[in-house]
Amino acid sequence: MHMKKLFQDKVLIISGGLGDIGKAICREFAAQGAAIAIGDLQSPDEAEVFLNELKQDHQVKSHYAQVDISDAQAVTGWLEQVEHHLGVASLVISNAARVTQANLHGLSPEAWSHELRVNLDGAFYLTQQATKRMLEKNLSGHVIFIGSWAAEAVHPNLPAYCVSKAGLRMLCKCMALELAPHRILVNEVAPGYVNAGLSAEIWAKNPGLIEKAAAQVPVGKIMTAADVAKQVAHLCHPSNEHITGSTLLMDGGLSLQAL
Ligand SMILES: NC(=O)c1ccc[n+]([C@@H]2O[C@H](COP(=O)([O-])OP(=O)(O)OC[C@H]3O[C@@H](n4cnc5c(N)ncnc54)[C@H](O)[C@@H]3O)[C@@H](O)[C@H]2O)c1
Repeated sequence: MHMKKLFQDKVLIISGGLGDIGKAICREFAAQGAAIAIGDLQSPDEAEVFLNELKQDHQVKSHYAQVDISDAQAVTGWLEQVEHHLGVASLVISNAARVTQANLHGLSPEAWSHELRVNLDGAFYLTQQATKRMLEKNLSGHVIFIGSWAAEAVHPNLPAYCVSKAGLRMLCKCMALELAPHRILVNEVAPGYVNAGLSAEIWAKNPGLIEKAAAQVPVGKIMTAADVAKQVAHLCHPSNEHITGSTLLMDGGLSLQAL
């Protein structure tokens, strides 16, 4: 007899699901039986290889939509498609983000606003609309925001990014309070240094830099995207009926240090 998988019969929806951490989250939940709905900026052709991987390795259904998360109407269209193809998602992962490196005076108004539109407004559009659909179907479930330790620790040359992640933290709490009576739990996973995305690109181009970064982390190593995904699944575990409005800070102790 087959054991029922942890997220069997559930649908997970994720923004930025073709990024490094996004893919790791999709793999983690697909391995536990969830159907996977991904929205990202890339074309459907570019997404195909990854969707095939999910199907082959985990035999789960999946759906891809090319969507700009900062466009509220596009998000509505995406959610309609997902509902039609897979059903209403009860695991909602807000993960898409962009990073502009510029100091305060080097940051144009357009770049500032673009970053907040994607990282914060986009997170709001997805989670607001997805949880509305959950309420309509009387579905309990989980919302996870992928935040960052940068919500609190100032990072030089990333003002818009830090502000967007700080905003996300309060959005998480507001949403958690309002949705708790409906058994929708809302939490944030806040990673420190991950060998993923822009950080991975920078480390790959500069020999020796990743070792230097690892040496700054009290636990002595840089985490992988898969490490982050495990903690997302941990918060979404069916046994979690009480953790809501929390930030799971996973930075290896980085932010504990006085400089
Ligand atoms: N990599 C790190 O060190 C690190 C550390 C802490 C937090 N994070 C957070 O983890 C999350 C994932 O980051 P990552 O490292 O996997 O980066 P990534 O660049 O690999 O992934 C981000 C994904 O978001 C997508 N995206 C960007 N703008 C979008 C838009 N407007 N609409 C839809 N999709 C869009 C990108 O196409 C990309 O696939 C982000 O929220 C990031 O802030 C990353």
